[in-house]
Amino acid sequence: MNYIGIDLGTSAVKLLLMQGDGKILKIVSREYPISFPKPGWSQQNPEDWYRETVAGLGELLQGSDKSQVAGISFGGQMHGLVILDDKDEVIRPAILWNDGRTAEESAYLNEEVGKEKLSKCTANISFAGFTAPKLLWLRKHEPENFARIRKIMLPKDYLAYRLSGVHCSDVSDASGTLFFDVENRCWSQEMCRICGIQQEWLPQVFESFQAVGTLKPELAGELGISEKTVIAAGAGDNAAAAVGTGTVGDGSCNISLGTSGTVFISTSKFGVDANNALHSFDHADGSYHLMGCMLSAASCNKWWMDDIIGTEEYSKEQQEIKELGKNHVYFLPYLMGERSPHNDPDARGTFIGLTMDTTRADMTQAVLEGVAFALRDSLEVAKSLGIEISHTKVCGGGAKSPLWKKILANVLGIRVDVPENEEGPSMGGAMLAAVACGEYRTVAEAAGAIVKVKEVIEPEPELTALYEKRYQQFRKIYPACRQLFQQLK
Ligand code: XUL
Repeated sequence: MNYIGIDLGTSAVKLLLMQGDGKILKIVSREYPISFPKPGWSQQNPEDWYRETVAGLGELLQGSDKSQVAGISFGGQMHGLVILDDKDEVIRPAILWNDGRTAEESAYLNEEVGKEKLSKCTANISFAGFTAPKLLWLRKHEPENFARIRKIMLPKDYLAYRLSGVHCSDVSDASGTLFFDVENRCWSQEMCRICGIQQEWLPQVFESFQAVGTLKPELAGELGISEKTVIAAGAGDNAAAAVGTGTVGDGSCNISLGTSGTVFISTSKFGVDANNALHSFDHADGSYHLMGCMLSAASCNKWWMDDIIGTEEYSKEQQEIKELGKNHVYFLPYLMGERSPHNDPDARGTFIGLTMDTTRADMTQAVLEGVAFALRDSLEVAKSLGIEISHTKVCGGGAKSPLWKKILANVLGIRVDVPENEEGPSMGGAMLAAVACGEYRTVAEAAGAIVKVKEVIEPEPELTALYEKRYQQFRKIYPACRQLFQQLK
């Protein structure tokens, strides 16, 4: 049978049709707009997600044997707030994961409610961008909208609802709301009380690989597929990407170079680090994970290429980069503020070290290196917890660049294993659907059977040593700018 994975991303929805044995039959992608109504704010219209997903499903299925489609599941941008009224209508645009408007509410949660209490209830502290502080913001700034709330949903759960009619979520995505008791895999009554929300506004939570229902008959008819098509809960995009790259089981690591950049460490045991510097979330395979998340990764390169130097030829620009490890220009990739490890919505993107002989290629290189250095910041936190990481998988749009992968291996000083495809979340979504339909007994079994590594990039000792020096310089820049960023607001 065949399975569909839907990756509800920040710039586009990517849909993937997978055969039961893991062979990818087709991939389509459809973009939608994102709006930045004020600096640091970011919103999207859930109707755009739905419209492009249904159009994408039609395109994906064209020319394939529709009778073979057995299941659909998701990977989705996390933390976004979608609110529905008593008629299940969307009340306002979704506030996204990289929206920094909730600095005050997040500080209230961390400082007044207290990090200890939050960590006890949810295994996490608050970050601007998590769902709970968004609700506090809404209650204060848009009380009329807050009063109409009857359902709170995460982005991919809104899609699952529109496809199946079921209000549902999954443990991995629910983990990023700060309303969820990660250890016990259920909503936290105490957090609902603290934030003044009713628990019945929250959807029923499933494991990522569980069926939540079937495709609505009218949609099944429109798409020409069976009404019995299973809709499985799916996962937050990072947990789905981890499934898609085979990052399951104890201590394996995946790095996603998407709009955001994440370091994802899979673990069989629940654990929280003393400073909550890494997120402690449920994994889509039934276990747990730790994760560091930077808010702007491949999006920094996209911004630099598309908006600033105005080119679509990413690889041609990268061919101009001649020497690694010696760049005198540094770039802080904090274009949307930063989450891990600084937890600072006021941080900003910065080039530093420019001279009269700085070239366009040096600056392009600084952008790629700055993202790799910032990912290393999260890896350093993991190391400080005694977690040993000798190699990682990689996925996401940025993983298409051979140069960026080489920079990553040498800045991190670890082996990078490149899976056969970089389609992390959509592949993971399709695999979760396959498990929900019984094609595989467990997520680990699916990953073992499907995921293959096509290339291994070893760090080169000389280059790693050069980058070590550069990284030690990079680390000094944010602390030197931190106060200034606050004054620049
Ligand atoms: C993870 C996070 C991002 C989004 C991107 O905590 O906020 O990776 O999920 O889609």
